[in-house]
Amino acid sequence: MSVSPPQPPATTPAASLEAILAAASDETREALRTLGELLGNAPTAAASPTQFASRHLGVDTVGLASTKFNGPGTALALLGSLLGTEMTRHAERVVVGSLGEGQPPTWGQLDLGPGEKVSVPSRMVVLFPAGTLSGVPLCIVVDDRHWSREFAILSTAADKPAAEAVLESFRDRLKTGENPLRGRVLEASLCDGSVRLGVAPSIEAQRGGLILPDDVWREIDIFLAAAGHRRELMRRLGLGTSRGLLVAGPPGVGKTHLVRVIAAELAGRFTTILADANSMRHAVAELFAETEAFGPTVVVLDDIDLVLTHRDASGNNATLADFLAALDGVHQREDILTVATTNDPKSLDPAAQRASRFDVVVTLPPPDAPLRARLLARYLGPLGAGIDPLRVAEVLDGATGADIKEVVRRVVLEQGEAFTEDDLVRVADGGRWKANVVRRRYL
Ligand SMILES: Nc1ncnc2c1ncn2[C@@H]1O[C@H](COP(=O)(O)OP(=O)(O)OP(=O)(O)O)[C@@H](O)[C@H]1O
Ligand SMILES: [Mg+2]
Repeated sequence: MSVSPPQPPATTPAASLEAILAAASDETREALRTLGELLGNAPTAAASPTQFASRHLGVDTVGLASTKFNGPGTALALLGSLLGTEMTRHAERVVVGSLGEGQPPTWGQLDLGPGEKVSVPSRMVVLFPAGTLSGVPLCIVVDDRHWSREFAILSTAADKPAAEAVLESFRDRLKTGENPLRGRVLEASLCDGSVRLGVAPSIEAQRGGLILPDDVWREIDIFLAAAGHRRELMRRLGLGTSRGLLVAGPPGVGKTHLVRVIAAELAGRFTTILADANSMRHAVAELFAETEAFGPTVVVLDDIDLVLTHRDASGNNATLADFLAALDGVHQREDILTVATTNDPKSLDPAAQRASRFDVVVTLPPPDAPLRARLLARYLGPLGAGIDPLRVAEVLDGATGADIKEVVRRVVLEQGEAFTEDDLVRVADGGRWKANVVRRRYL
């Protein structure tokens, strides 16, 4: 019996050229394209994605169905990274095409932090023949240009359910370790009017560095328990897991420091999104929409009072309305936590504080004398040997953690390392560490 040798997969010459182009570096691609044009070939990128799909799926363009992902930009880039994974997995069988407009298929870079990037398909259409992603052939279109952003699966009308199932499975996979940004600390900012998530350095803040009253830590622990080891129990009993924590208190008492400690303690299990004021103010709905791509996520909204003030006299506040709608929407899901800080909870619209939005409100008071002494000891470190922190703390009535840090800074700036307890008392008593001590009156 004769056995015929295995046949190479049947690909058209044009398709394999496109596959080579897609895998090549930018320079190689440009050189090959120019060479091709010099040799009189038609440009590689004439067909549109629908023409490409129509040709490969064997139906008229009107017989095509499109299953689109309508989410925001980072989620789309992450779907692109999964597309890249699947293209590698089925490298022998996929056929890569361009989006037309004379452009070759393009790969972009997904930033994973300093010095860490992965290559992801950014503008192309890819045919996955039957038996690769699904039992039926599908074409995936990706375009990351912000004015024409798209991630869509083209199929025949009859195969639309299969396309929907593939998109659903891609979205589920983003909530697993296959999402390279999951569990990271991300910073949200506004770029070209939409939210951009960049990788931030991981947060190192630890409880040990933050001196707070015991009852504050108890509240924080209760909040974290509902997000952590008591999560399953709360869910089983129908008691609800954590949703939001609002940390209130005057300037300088450690609110920002506290939310960083919380984020650090949730790191790994939760993705952290640190929102800047612009993304809170102008794109809060999109900001919360981005959380969908990450599974459990903690969204940190520092200083929300800058954004969420009372409604005006006519009862309008578009940002507030957007914020409340986004918060209510996102809290339907059990895996999103919101941690916000404010100097003045009274300046927030009462609707923003309603219990279902922030289920724990913790107020950080200015430290009392024993806490001030501990803060002094913390910031003096080894320089505090032989100094009675309680005596110095007595003259620091009204000082916050930030003020006490400033007192220590001033003494060291004035005296170097060789200062005495009396020097500290003098600086503390002088009150110059108070941010608002120098008030001039003008006639
Ligand atoms: N209770 C504290 N324990 C240790 N350090 C503190 C404490 N309170 C404040 N600090 C220190 O003071 C500085 C300012 O603190 P932080 O930025 O957290 O204050 P804040 O309450 O967020 O102030 P603001 O309302 O102005 O944003 C930080 O360096 C912080 O570590
Ligand atoms: Mg702060």
